Amino acid sequence: MVENSQQLAVVTGANRGLGLETCRQLAQRGLRVMLTSRDEAEGQAAMNRLRGQGFAVRYHSLDVTDPASVAALADTLRREGGRIDALVNNAGVALEGFDAGVARRTLSVNFFGVMAVTDRLLPLLAPHGRIVMVSSAMGQMDGLPPALCDQFLNPVLTRNDLVDLLNRFVRDVEAGRHLERGWPANAYRISKVGLNAFTRILAQELAASAVRVNAVSPGWVRTAMGGPGATRTIEEGAQGIVWAALVGPDGPTGGFFRDGQPIPW
Ligand SMILES: NC(=O)c1ccc[n+]([C@@H]2O[C@H](COP(=O)([O-])OP(=O)(O)OC[C@H]3O[C@@H](n4cnc5c(N)ncnc54)[C@H](OP(=O)(O)O)[C@@H]3O)[C@@H](O)[C@H]2O)c1
Repeated sequence: MVENSQQLAVVTGANRGLGLETCRQLAQRGLRVMLTSRDEAEGQAAMNRLRGQGFAVRYHSLDVTDPASVAALADTLRREGGRIDALVNNAGVALEGFDAGVARRTLSVNFFGVMAVTDRLLPLLAPHGRIVMVSSAMGQMDGLPPALCDQFLNPVLTRNDLVDLLNRFVRDVEAGRHLERGWPANAYRISKVGLNAFTRILAQELAASAVRVNAVSPGWVRTAMGGPGATRTIEEGAQGIVWAALVGPDGPTGGFFRDGQPIPW
């Protein structure tokens, strides 16, 4: 049994909100934490706040949409001989408005960014490593047209199919034909539907290993994104993320959870 204190967690988008609180809770459990953010000054300040509370936290910059930035994090970890025990893909955006630009930018962070970070860090993952996709109830298929559900939930959907599907969404928005083609006018929703599909595909790809890959809905949380009217505290929202980041080798994989309980896709 590996001690928590020897374990390393990497958390994306962790200068504030759920990412920062996830770092705090993981450090509280004794893990060494690599806090990452795209804004270096904000990330360093967040790290210093956690260090001031006595937690073992380090910092590395990471813009999940920038391949060079993703590669730099991987290189640093590789040089250190680092082995990642938990990767928390938390960085996300919920942009105002809806057009092709919003759709493209939303997918670039919430879907393609997660895919790029995960693929790049996968070789550094411990044999019993955990990958957590911070998703949303908005990623649930409930209420979406059946034809769209069939495509995303198709059990033989491949990564390439999924990428094609999401690129088609952007093209359909660009052409102003998304509604007639059965898409909702909501880029955030499709980004999380796509993230959930990626969770299932990645879990299948890694089925022969002990790596656990799960998606988590934190609920509606009072962060900058969730707003002051949200029903849950940041501490409550982060608990389910931390649970998935700590599941054991016999724990679930390829599932969708809220507060450690399975929820429908
Ligand atoms: N709050 C909710 O009610 C709720 C509900 C369901 C799901 N979620 C999910 O929970 C996750 C965390 O959200 P939150 O509520 O904590 O929101 P938040 O306070 O807005 O935090 C989002 C974080 O993502 C970072 N980020 C955005 N683009 C990035 C990029 N390209 N590279 C790296 N980091 C990037 C932001 O960094 P900057 O400070 O630089 O912008 C920020 O640190 C998201 O995936 C969100 O979709 C939230």
